[in-house]
Amino acid sequence: MMKTVLTIFGATGNLMHIKLVPALIRLFKSGHLNNDTSVICVSRRDYNQEMYYEHLLSSVSPSLDLESIKNKLTYFQMDLQNPEDYQNLKKKIELTYGNDIQSLFYLAVSPEFFVEIAQGISQAGLVEKGNIRNRVVFEKPFGHSFESAKSINTQLENYFTESQIYRIDHYLGKDMIQNILVMRFGNIVFENNWSRDSIEKIDILVKEHSGIGNRGSYYDQSGAMNDMVQSHLLQMLALITMEPPKSLDSAEIRKNKIEVLKKTTIDNQSAIFGQYIGYLSEQGIPSDSSTETFVCLKAQVDTPRFKDVPIYLITGKKLDEKIAEIIIHFKEHTLANTLWPNQKPLHNQLVIGVSEYEGVRFQMNFKTPGLNDNLVETSLDYCHSCQKIGNNPEAYEKLLKDFIENTPTLFTSWDEIEASWKIVDPIDFIRETLIHYADIDDLRSKIRERKGREDIDL
Ligand SMILES: NC(=O)c1ccc[n+]([C@@H]2O[C@H](COP(=O)([O-])OP(=O)(O)OC[C@H]3O[C@@H](n4cnc5c(N)ncnc54)[C@H](OP(=O)(O)O)[C@@H]3O)[C@@H](O)[C@H]2O)c1
Repeated sequence: MMKTVLTIFGATGNLMHIKLVPALIRLFKSGHLNNDTSVICVSRRDYNQEMYYEHLLSSVSPSLDLESIKNKLTYFQMDLQNPEDYQNLKKKIELTYGNDIQSLFYLAVSPEFFVEIAQGISQAGLVEKGNIRNRVVFEKPFGHSFESAKSINTQLENYFTESQIYRIDHYLGKDMIQNILVMRFGNIVFENNWSRDSIEKIDILVKEHSGIGNRGSYYDQSGAMNDMVQSHLLQMLALITMEPPKSLDSAEIRKNKIEVLKKTTIDNQSAIFGQYIGYLSEQGIPSDSSTETFVCLKAQVDTPRFKDVPIYLITGKKLDEKIAEIIIHFKEHTLANTLWPNQKPLHNQLVIGVSEYEGVRFQMNFKTPGLNDNLVETSLDYCHSCQKIGNNPEAYEKLLKDFIENTPTLFTSWDEIEASWKIVDPIDFIRETLIHYADIDDLRSKIRERKGREDIDL
């Protein structure tokens, strides 16, 4: 079997510690990666192999069995801004592993380095344009607007073909996100009711309990809109509203997602922006920042299936809980209202728990047990994570595995990125309308007070 060499740029960074190292340990332990795979860990610190290992030991969770991958990791010091260092990296790889390898690159570094690294590895001959044995992962964010994303992409096209470029949206690696397709297209009961005829509205909701932590300088440049909506929330919208694919082929799924993203618009008047009180005192935040930490948008997907169905995209920090879920609100059922006129049958609701609760709740009407005929609202619950045997795969584990195996379905294509930026770019943000909220109750009451918006479920 051909040897795989995975070079990770940014190997002393936070992403490496919290996501990539745990994913690597699990993949090696489960046998998805084996002795044919080696990892080169790049940063600019003047470490030797032992010092790097000590660095990891003190940075990753103590519960991780780091020892199990110790001999798979090789530290390599370089400056990403020095072209000669790329030549040295090439020599190192050739001397250690030869030429007949699959050479892969993971850019776990600030996006400002994306083009420089692409140029560096390309000019050093570490990657060859069009050679699918050379692939590169780009972390998010991919640009901060359509123009900036396009500029990055145009430059990357000098060095790689689209099939060599893997753009991460780690939400796509989450098990329940992948489950959306199975649920929608594997069950006739949903497949036949998945349209404006049966669905009244959809909420796509990602709430966080925490604030921005120590990510201030990054977050203040992006805000909730670019950090969450442009990527994760629009990807969820695409999976929920896309047309049935003819197959599970990557190209087919991506094509259907792009089609709905191109038909998606945001009602500018409906946009609500908020900032939690205390944000301005966070580390790295300018005292006059108006960056939003909360956003609520009403989207429309102009397809025959979903025309005029409001889709709320809601995300924010410092709210009451950490949760990501999609709620499909079905319409009221006229027959049920006729048959049980005094009982207010509930509208069916399907709740897809993406995280922290992973599972599905389907709310239905049933008869109460016993002699009377009253209706009772009941929830059929499926706990996805409870069904798993062994460890729950983390998103990064799945994404790394797919990248190494050259399966791009769960990565975002340029066309998807382009369409997403074109959706969020035109949204006007009026500084004066920013709601300052202390907590979720405060936010709820200020939204109602100021906007009179009873349609929003927070
Ligand atoms: N952290 C997260 O939770 C998270 C989540 C989602 C996405 N991301 C994305 O992942 C990427 C990495 O984020 P991060 O939080 O891990 O960043 P980070 O903690 O700041 O780490 C940056 C890494 O880049 C290396 N580096 C910087 N300048 C270099 C240079 N000139 N030459 C060689 N190496 C250099 C650093 O090496 P030294 O230590 O030697 O300086 C370090 O290993 C970003 O694109 C970010 O947006 C991060």
